[in-house]
Amino acid sequence: MATAPNTVNNKRFNAEAANWDNNPSVQEATRLAYETLRPLVNSLSETKVTASGSGLDVLEVGCGTGLLTTRVAPLVREIVAVDTADGMIEMLKSKTTGPDSPRNIVPICKLLEDPEDPVLPSDDEGSSAGGRRKFDLILSHLVLHHIPDVKSFLQMLLACLRPGGRVALTDFEDFGPEAIKFHPKSKLEGVERHGIPRQWMVDLLHEVGFQQVNVSVGWMLEKEIEGWDDESHGKTIQFPFLVCEGVRP
Ligand SMILES: C[S@@+](CC[C@H](N)C(=O)[O-])C[C@H]1O[C@@H](n2cnc3c(N)ncnc32)[C@H](O)[C@@H]1O
Repeated sequence: MATAPNTVNNKRFNAEAANWDNNPSVQEATRLAYETLRPLVNSLSETKVTASGSGLDVLEVGCGTGLLTTRVAPLVREIVAVDTADGMIEMLKSKTTGPDSPRNIVPICKLLEDPEDPVLPSDDEGSSAGGRRKFDLILSHLVLHHIPDVKSFLQMLLACLRPGGRVALTDFEDFGPEAIKFHPKSKLEGVERHGIPRQWMVDLLHEVGFQQVNVSVGWMLEKEIEGWDDESHGKTIQFPFLVCEGVRP
């Protein structure tokens, strides 16, 4: 069941953390993810506020430096942001400590494998004992292609949700042989798959017990190809991004 810690990834993302936000392609991918997800987050938020008087509890897995986290935070009650690379989490923490910083982000450095992991907030605001919080929404952007065992990962996410809670996981699609060029050749180590095969993801979400499964292209990212053959140099490819949704019964 366990998803082994990927040390290659951890080394790479720790090394890249300080400069992560300076990559225009990363910024553009996050902007498009946010624009695509915003209507869903707003609509879930409004429904939750109407029903219970409080906003959405969100978990983001693989938050990196918090590019998506900090955009989503103003729309929700609280967002717990988990990443395995402490360099990434330190960058996110630095965005949460200024006088005008969002106060509803909880950054955690952890390979989350257990929905009852004590690093997660308690379900009971007044006490750290008891069960862990269950979430209304789980986000994860550009992470699935790094996860060795996606089935175990989805099982864990399902168990982190409240009944009726949902996942909205975004990553580039495995649309064919060119999908491998999403990463420069030199950065393929630690990449588990070159994008997400659409039907494979639909089947996995059903298999682990999600309902209302929908996996569809949410947007296209035009990305310049780096580090491949001379013919590819300076060329751009349109990468389809999937939004993978499912609801906990
Ligand atoms: C391509 S980066 C994306 C970061 C961020 N979501 C963004 O779009 O800027 C992938 C991130 O996932 C993290 N990661 C990889 N495997 C993970 C796992 N099993 N649990 C949590 N984070 C993970 C990495 O440390 C890295 O920060």
